Amino acid sequence: MQFSAPKGTNDILASHTPLWRYVEGKFHEIASLFGFQEIRTPMFENAGLFSRGVGEGTDIVTKEMFTFSHSQKEMFALRPEGTAAVVRSYIENGMSSEPKPVKLYYIENMFRAENPQKGRSRQFTQFGIETLGSASASTDAETISVCAFALRQFGISNVELNINSVGCPVCRKAYYEKLSVFLESRLDSMCPDCRSRAAKNPMRVLDCKQEACQAATAGAPLMLDNLCNDCASHFEELQHCLAASKIEFSVNPRIVRGLDYYTKTAFEFLTNDLGSQSAVCAGGRYDGLAETIGGKPTPGVGFGFGIERLLLLMEAQGVLPNLGARQTGVFFASLDSQSARDALGYAMECRSKGIAALTDTLSRSLKAQMKYADKLNSRYVIFLEAEKTSQGIATVRDMETKEQFDIDLSGIASLFDK
Ligand code: HAM
Repeated sequence: MQFSAPKGTNDILASHTPLWRYVEGKFHEIASLFGFQEIRTPMFENAGLFSRGVGEGTDIVTKEMFTFSHSQKEMFALRPEGTAAVVRSYIENGMSSEPKPVKLYYIENMFRAENPQKGRSRQFTQFGIETLGSASASTDAETISVCAFALRQFGISNVELNINSVGCPVCRKAYYEKLSVFLESRLDSMCPDCRSRAAKNPMRVLDCKQEACQAATAGAPLMLDNLCNDCASHFEELQHCLAASKIEFSVNPRIVRGLDYYTKTAFEFLTNDLGSQSAVCAGGRYDGLAETIGGKPTPGVGFGFGIERLLLLMEAQGVLPNLGARQTGVFFASLDSQSARDALGYAMECRSKGIAALTDTLSRSLKAQMKYADKLNSRYVIFLEAEKTSQGIATVRDMETKEQFDIDLSGIASLFDK
């Protein structure tokens, strides 16, 4: 029986890993320019962390978590998102005693049992940042500016920042009552998902992509028009801070996000260049999350940036970097079986001097070895033949200039001195 990778997962092949390393390297650099430090949390957590943190009624928790148990006692879940895990770690490791705000980032795989399509997979990678311990709108603006900066660094255009405020538990309660009254008479014309959302989290209905639901909710009361004073002034200040940071945005009152922990600011960076998966980066503020999962009240704000979507976007916009061909420093071509053995030792010496070195381990003809050296893009080929090696010398071919000359085998490193 032949196996395939599980549905919705992808191999990142050797031809693509240099691109991933490049993108990840850039994200590490960007995070450090903004003062974020890397955190790595386990790939799985207690499932309850996500059902409490992300929300019992969310699609992520009800439909998309990969859960498993080892003994019958505990239920675990592969991490579907990073925020709840980072906040769990912040609480558990007493990070509240560190100088505030605490600024953390991660580049990690997430797992969601979604229906795979272009830009949507079951295992995907997020660059995520989380700032804990600051309630200010300027922190929200800084968070957003990390994403705007990253998009610019990767040469991406045609992405629009949409912002909204989803209020706080105080103003949301009164708003939900208003919205529920509005939705009640329209439930029959909405999709089954929205009918159940209307009871659990009515705001999510506003973000449904189905035409019938969009028509039914046209003219619905909006959170943005029903914010309490604190949330309204926070949203206003955010807009001043974004303007000061020279970041363009549109206010979109229908951005509601699919995770329940958001309060006040919610935002998405949207593009038309990715088909239906239009969000490349999304996030917001989550001031109640720490308490929900058993910690002290701790304001927080962050985002998740989908790296697969970024790569698709870079490809679609023709801004993938040219990373050059793979290159090997030295290839030892051996002309006899003793030389093939000696090559192993010489290659080890080269590596210990920081020179990438390869040998022929398949007893190939010299012609086949040269073809292989060419494929490896070797800078030099060193021909080992017993007669010469016994005198400590070998012939070298410079693969760029095609020159051939003899060298002392103890001086291979000097080839790279220039
Ligand atoms: P999210 O909107 O669920 O938020 O995901 C953030 C980003 O992850 C999306 O904009 C998208 O680029 C990428 N993404 C999500 N699902 C998939 C998928 N199935 N396949 C490929 N890419 C995907 C969160 O996860 C929050 N934790 C973000 C956050 C951090 N909020 C505050 N802090």
